[in-house]
Amino acid sequence: MIPYSIYIVDDEPTIREGISISLKADYKVQAFPSAEAALKALKAHIPDLILLDIGLPGMSGIDALSEIKKDVPDILVIMITAYEDIKTVISAMKLGAYDYVVKPIHMDSLEITIKNALETIKLRKEVRLLQERYLQENLPCYVAESNAIKNIMDFIELVAKSPDTPILILGETGTGKEFLASTIHYRSPNYKGPLVTVNCAAIPQNLIESELFGYEKGAFSGANPLGKRGLIEEAAQGTLFLDEVGDLSLEAQAKLLRFLEEGEFYRVGGTKKMQVSTRIVSATNKDLEAMMDQDRFRKDLYFRLGVIKIQVPSLNERPDDIIPLARHFLFEFSRKFKKNFTDMTAEVQSTLLGYAWEGNVRELRNLIERGVLVGKGPELALEDLGIEPSKTRLPSSRREGGFSPIPPEGIDLTTVEEAFQRHYIEEALRMAGGNESQAAKLLGINHHTFRYRRKNLQIQPKQGG
Ligand SMILES: Nc1ncnc2c1ncn2[C@@H]1O[C@H](COP(=O)(O)OP(=O)(O)OP(=O)(O)O)[C@@H](O)[C@H]1O
Ligand SMILES: [Mg+2]
Repeated sequence: MIPYSIYIVDDEPTIREGISISLKADYKVQAFPSAEAALKALKAHIPDLILLDIGLPGMSGIDALSEIKKDVPDILVIMITAYEDIKTVISAMKLGAYDYVVKPIHMDSLEITIKNALETIKLRKEVRLLQERYLQENLPCYVAESNAIKNIMDFIELVAKSPDTPILILGETGTGKEFLASTIHYRSPNYKGPLVTVNCAAIPQNLIESELFGYEKGAFSGANPLGKRGLIEEAAQGTLFLDEVGDLSLEAQAKLLRFLEEGEFYRVGGTKKMQVSTRIVSATNKDLEAMMDQDRFRKDLYFRLGVIKIQVPSLNERPDDIIPLARHFLFEFSRKFKKNFTDMTAEVQSTLLGYAWEGNVRELRNLIERGVLVGKGPELALEDLGIEPSKTRLPSSRREGGFSPIPPEGIDLTTVEEAFQRHYIEEALRMAGGNESQAAKLLGINHHTFRYRRKNLQIQPKQGG
C-alpha cells in the first residue's frame, strides 16, 4: 500500500525534525521551514495531510491555510499552535482546519490526531467511490441513435467538464431539454453538488427575486420570519437549472443579469454581498431571437446564459431516434406495469416513423405508455396505440385510397404503378432524410425490396433530405 504523505511546516528546526523522525516509519514525510516553501511544493505534489504551524515568520499559518484551502479545499490541515496563540485557532477552524495541537507537542497524542485525520480521508474516499458508482449505475439512459443527438452528447461530454460555463438549451416542447440539463449536471465535476431546478414560468414573477436570491428576516410581510436561503445558494457547487427561462419577466431578467455579470448578489433586504459558484443551465422552448426583436428578452442576458448554446432538434428532424426511443419506453413501461412486451409490430414501426410528432419525445413516451397499459403483448400492436389518423405525416392518399376513376380511354397500369411507387419511394426517402432502411420501414417493405425498386426506377439514393 502507498503510505500517506504528510507535509510538516514549522520554522523551529527541533520541532520539524522531531516530528519528521517519529512519523517517518509510517508515512512519507516532507518538512518545510516556511509557508512559502510549502506552498511552492504543493504545486508539484498534494499530500494527504499538512501539519501547519500558526506562528510562522513571513506568511502566517492562517494566511497559508486560506491559500491552501482555496487551491485544495479537500485537504486536511492540522494546525500547530503555541499556547499564547490559542485564540487564533478559532479562525483556523473557521477556515476549515481539521484539528489543532498545542506546543509542546506530545508525539503520542499527535499520532492519534493524525490517525483520526487519515481515517477521515479514507472514509471520504470510500464515500466518493460509492457515490460515483451509484451515479454511474443509476444514470438515466439517454437514447441517442441519430447523428444529431450523438453529436450533442459528444459536445456535452466536452463542455460539461468546465464546472461553471453557462449553457443554454433550446428546442421545441418535449425534445428532452430538461433531461439534457440533468445529463450535463451528472457528467460535470459538480455532480456531487445539488441540481436545483427553477421553473421560471411557475414562480409568480414578483417572487422570483426572493426565490432566487433569498431574503433576510423581516424582508417583506408574509415572508418566513427567519429569512430564507435562495435557490442560487442552494445550488452552490452544483447546477442551477433555469427551466422555461423565456418566461422570465423583464424585471427578473435584469436581476438575473446583474448576478451573472458580477457573480455576486444580495438577499432581498440584506446588506451582505453573497458569492456563490454554480453552473447555470437554462432552457426554453420559446424563440428567444424573436423575443429579442420584440424587446421581450434581453440580448445581454441571452449572451450571458448562452455562452454555450445547444439546439435540440425536433423528433421529426431525427427519425433515426424514433424506433430506439419507442423500444426504450416500451421496456420502461413494460417493467413498470409488469407486462411482457418484447417488441412492436412492423405496422406500429412504420406508423411511428410516419407520425407527425408535435409533442416530440414526450408525446412518443405518452403514446407508448398508453399502448403498454392497454395492450396485451408480447408485441405492441397498432390498435393498442389509438393513434388518430389525421396526425400521420404520410399523404392522405395512402390512407384513403385517393385513386382517380379510370377514364373511358383506359389507363396504362404499369405506368401508373411506376408513378405510384416513384412518388412514395421519393417521399419516404425525403422523410427519412435519405436513410434507406428508415424509408423502407415507412413503406412497410424490407430494405432489399426497397433498394431493388429504387434502382429499377433509377431514383438516386440521396433524395431531398
Ligand atoms: N433522448 C432521450 N432518451 C430517453 N428519454 C428521453 C429522451 N429525450 C426525452 N426523453 C423523455 O421525454 C420526456 C420529455 O423530455 P423533457 O421533459 O426533458 O423535455 P423538454 O424539452 O424539457 O420539454 P418542455 O419544453 O415541454 O419542458 C421526458 O420524460 C424525458 O425523460
Ligand atoms: Mg422542460
